[in-house]
Amino acid sequence: MKTAFFDTKPYDKPAFELYGKEKGIEFKFFETKLNADTAQLADGCDAVCVLVNATVAAEVVDTLYGYGIKLIALRSAGYNNVDVKHAYGKIHVVHVPAYSPNSVAEHAMALLLTSVRRIHKAYNRTKDFNFSLNGLTGFNLHGKTVGIIGTGKIGKIFADICGGFGMNVIAYDKFPPQESKIKYTSPDEIFEKSDIISLHCPLNSETRHMIDKAAVEKMKKGVVIINTSRGALIDAEALLEGIKQRKVGAACLDVYEEESDIFFEDLSGHIMNDDLLARLISMPNVIVTSHQAFLTEEALDNIAATTVNNIISCFENDGICENELCYRCGNIEECKKDRKERCF
Ligand code: NAI
Repeated sequence: MKTAFFDTKPYDKPAFELYGKEKGIEFKFFETKLNADTAQLADGCDAVCVLVNATVAAEVVDTLYGYGIKLIALRSAGYNNVDVKHAYGKIHVVHVPAYSPNSVAEHAMALLLTSVRRIHKAYNRTKDFNFSLNGLTGFNLHGKTVGIIGTGKIGKIFADICGGFGMNVIAYDKFPPQESKIKYTSPDEIFEKSDIISLHCPLNSETRHMIDKAAVEKMKKGVVIINTSRGALIDAEALLEGIKQRKVGAACLDVYEEESDIFFEDLSGHIMNDDLLARLISMPNVIVTSHQAFLTEEALDNIAATTVNNIISCFENDGICENELCYRCGNIEECKKDRKERCF
């Protein structure tokens, strides 16, 4: 069984080679991302394996289908880049729903601590033998209110971590659990009461730009905003304006709306074309990591193991795979997966 593996990075290969060999999957590794121009590389394979920054629009689905590709195996949780409706009935789609929620939650806390204790500045200073403390005053997390938007797998762990720091945790989730120790409230109250706001909900038409000019206006002066979820949850122009107005005290961004051609690449030595990102990065109170929150040894191992199992499940026996998804998923009347059947 051959799988075309797009957007290969050195840290991807070892675990995929290991699990692939064990289960009889040959991975053909390509450094390029999957898009309309590169889809032809998949000719002769049975499946493609892609990340969330691939462009799997309708025309790419049709090209892959023409080559006889039967499976798009995402090695990410998010799948907003795949036209799942167009793929329905043609190519099955699987993803890795959770590879290490702890890795993302811990990264969110790492960003927060770095920001509020000015570790990024101190690191640069001491490298230069500058041992001055001027300008490094931080603040305690203990006793501060953190507003968490989205308390699924990652948000819940982040809430626990914040609880361990003695923070007052409030949260908004469109589908809050029946019972919880967390105090649930409205988005407006999150904006108004939080010293720190951390985003852990999915990106969809409802959540796109949930942090916009109006939301920033409602926030406390000096608020710290953390986004390890999806870039487009934040209107980056509004965030920048909030920073310039001294309303937003700090921003910790692991994701950015226009990240797809920028993050994961070494662009040092190039001219940065994205003025907005360049301006954000130039701010002393903005920390940007390039979609790194997932990147732990444990997560990479889980991603490879789950993806290989997904591919095997789809090609063997009844083809039922618990991680298959389609545009009907979640629709109680139409979702076949809920009935333990194949999506199509
Ligand atoms: P999850 O599905 O377990 O939790 C999402 C939560 O958001 C659920 O509780 C859901 O009810 C809630 N939600 C749905 N719509 C909402 C809305 N309109 N407003 C508020 N809450 C809403 O997802 P998980 O695993 O916790 O992941 C969260 C996000 O983290 C993902 O959507 C993904 O975008 C991002 N992520 C980022 C990674 C990184 O490396 N930076 C890695 C993995 C995930």
